[in-house]
Amino acid sequence: MKEIQKLVDEAIEEINLAKNSTTLNNIRVKYLGKKGLVTSLMKKLKELPQEERPKFGALVNDAKNTIQAKINDKFQEISALEKMQKYEKLAVDISLPGARKDIGHLHILSQVQKELEDIFISMGFEVVEGPEVEDTWHNFDALNTPDWHPARDVQDSFYFTEEKLLRTHTSPVQVRTMLKRKPPLAIVSPGRVYRRDYDSTHLPMFTQMEVLYIDQNVTIKHLKFTLEEMAKRIFGENSKVRLRPSFFPFTEPSYEIDVWFGDTWLEILGAGMVDPNVFKNVGYDPTKWSGFAFGLGLERVAMVKYGIKDIRDFIRNDIKFLENY
Ligand code: DAH
Repeated sequence: MKEIQKLVDEAIEEINLAKNSTTLNNIRVKYLGKKGLVTSLMKKLKELPQEERPKFGALVNDAKNTIQAKINDKFQEISALEKMQKYEKLAVDISLPGARKDIGHLHILSQVQKELEDIFISMGFEVVEGPEVEDTWHNFDALNTPDWHPARDVQDSFYFTEEKLLRTHTSPVQVRTMLKRKPPLAIVSPGRVYRRDYDSTHLPMFTQMEVLYIDQNVTIKHLKFTLEEMAKRIFGENSKVRLRPSFFPFTEPSYEIDVWFGDTWLEILGAGMVDPNVFKNVGYDPTKWSGFAFGLGLERVAMVKYGIKDIRDFIRNDIKFLENY
């Protein structure tokens, strides 16, 4: 009897100390398994005198039941704990910041272009586009640019054939639009243009925005107001605009336009009143219609606005540069 009680006590102590279901199962095998300690006690039954057998058998059975019950209890406790540990491992800490994906943004030139488009749209202009592969008639002749003009030199432009080239400015879109529509007109046309230049202030491919306004009785005052309004909105309330006499074949009179920025005048575009010859070339009556036009360099606008020194930065694809804007 003592031996049985001792066995039960030992089993209970081991069960109490068990930390996981594997250990607990090992204990069960050790005591209650086929060759377990309690099970083998049963085999001693035969060695006992007949009259002691029932009592001994009952005791062993009790011991077995006690241990089994204890194991069951402990198993419940352990499996609840193990389940919790498993869930804790799986759990997501929603207070931690998530993995962030870098999101790109528009290139600085696209931003400047959109900003300008919005400014002109708000003034009633419409955005139109023209082809980058242009013919010499739209690019030069229609714009009153004669054969001898240096812009037509093969050294200055990219020709495919004698009559096809990469457009050297966005001005041919003026011609295309005037041919397609009837005045009055108010359009802007952004896009790429091409010239044989390459240094810190010139790229072989750059971006312009053409602006054209045609109506009756359009004067330089309309041009100046539009320029001042544009400058205020893109460069700030304090910016000023200066018109300097200049020459373009497709405008008369013509101007270079400077903006006051910080402490200096910076040239940002060419402008003028549409030349009567251009009107004639597209079939508009120059005695009835008048208009102004100008062409902005978008890189130039961005360089002035953001203090960028080297025009080549726009096309270097340097992430550090691009992320600044
Ligand atoms: N097309 C000229 C250039 O690329 C810029 C320009 C000057 C456009 C005067 C105009 C204008 O519309 O009126 O240099």
